[in-house]
Amino acid sequence: TTERSNQTGTAPVLVASNRGPVSFSTSDDGTLTLRRGGGGLVSGLSAIDDPNAVWVCAALGDADRRAATQAPYGRLDLAGHDVGGQAVRMLDIDPETFARAYNGVANSTLWFVHHLLYATPTAPVFDAGFRAEWSAYRAYNAAFADALAAEAAPGAAVLVQDYHLSLTPALLRAARPDLRIGYFSHTPWAPPEYFRLLPDDVAEAVLTGILGADRAGFLTERWARAFAACCTDLLGATVDHSALTVRYAGRTTHLGVHALGADGDFLRERAHRPDVDERLAALRAAVGDRRTIVRVDRTELSKNIVRGLQAYRHLLRTRPEWHDRVVHIAFAYPSRTDLAEYRDYTAEVERLAHDINAEFATPTWRPLILHVDDDFPRSLAAYRLADVALVNPIRDGMNLVAKEVPVVSDHGCALVLSREAGAYDELADDALTVNPYDVIATADALHAGLTMPAEERTERTKRLAAAATALPPQQWFLDQLNAL
Ligand code: G6P
Repeated sequence: TTERSNQTGTAPVLVASNRGPVSFSTSDDGTLTLRRGGGGLVSGLSAIDDPNAVWVCAALGDADRRAATQAPYGRLDLAGHDVGGQAVRMLDIDPETFARAYNGVANSTLWFVHHLLYATPTAPVFDAGFRAEWSAYRAYNAAFADALAAEAAPGAAVLVQDYHLSLTPALLRAARPDLRIGYFSHTPWAPPEYFRLLPDDVAEAVLTGILGADRAGFLTERWARAFAACCTDLLGATVDHSALTVRYAGRTTHLGVHALGADGDFLRERAHRPDVDERLAALRAAVGDRRTIVRVDRTELSKNIVRGLQAYRHLLRTRPEWHDRVVHIAFAYPSRTDLAEYRDYTAEVERLAHDINAEFATPTWRPLILHVDDDFPRSLAAYRLADVALVNPIRDGMNLVAKEVPVVSDHGCALVLSREAGAYDELADDALTVNPYDVIATADALHAGLTMPAEERTERTKRLAAAATALPPQQWFLDQLNAL
């Protein structure tokens, strides 16, 4: 049948996110090939073994858009693609609306606000261009709410993910008051005095959009409390701080804390497949018997890669005993390259990496290996090899690298961890914690990691791995679903 009721659908459980569990690319012969996405959300959803469950996501590029328009209602046939039992519906949002919503509002505005990334003397500027982007963001959120309303069975549970979709819960509730709606924020949440940078109507729409959900979930209590503080300060909402509820406009939203953990079983198995072994051998050949400091990130402003490199340079400048005895392996793969800030940042990372090698390299020692292409098995190989892992974000919702390294480490790894990462709340006891802006303190922590006695490193890594896998993705997802 090609007709579809515009009343209710059949899905008992739905997930909505901008980036879906699969993406398409066009091969040379014009056919579409499908790639499964990584990450906690994809593995979390595989816990639902219900063929009627539906994941609604956006078509992100031309190949996705082709796939979405070929499939009836954008419902893709993914049988045999290892993406869990659920169906995927990709929304074909027109490219200009999508770009304004995704680049303009989600990634240049809301992401910047929550990660405190603005250089405020000159940015942000909320002008007519922003207003066009804001209209697009509203249309994009409405498209998600419409699709969810059409797919959801009566009384279904809908889990809306992240800052791209902050208006969707309230829009969906207006259309389908029968649904149980959850929202989950994968980012930090800005303190009220910074959140207030947003135009008043935008700030209010974001908060009330999320308060349209029955439950709003956060990765740490820090971010949940910051959200509650914004609701009090900007909306005058009533917050019960012990029950973690927000009462506004006659409704109550429960705030939940669900600290997404690493997928231990998957990682341990994946990290010992032949493709990882091969890459490990190549890294070992490059490093020799030297110590290693490893970092793996998207080339993302909030990850603080530049200060990480400056800290490494400071270590080499002030502690010459490490010359020829350590190699920094930095994987920084491309992200959000439509934004000028990200392109500039990438160039700065590459320039600094070049300078460090120019300053210290010898004919037999290359102090820094920087790779800017994404290769998951190579990242796992680096995790296994690392003596020290550097995770120094300016601010981060959780940071799963900090949780993954201890799980797959071959011989124990010291973790240098920013106190501004959500993961700090669970891992601080056994990590070497740093203020991410303090390059000298970061260099000292790298040195402490490199000189940590092997036995202590092993013991700490064991405890870190246990803490890191306390709430694996499937349980994280089911906890939210059950709480609804
Ligand atoms: C963060 C966000 C996710 C996002 C991911 C990658 O983890 O919380 O929602 O999908 O970054 O960013 P991208 O813009 O490539 O989807």
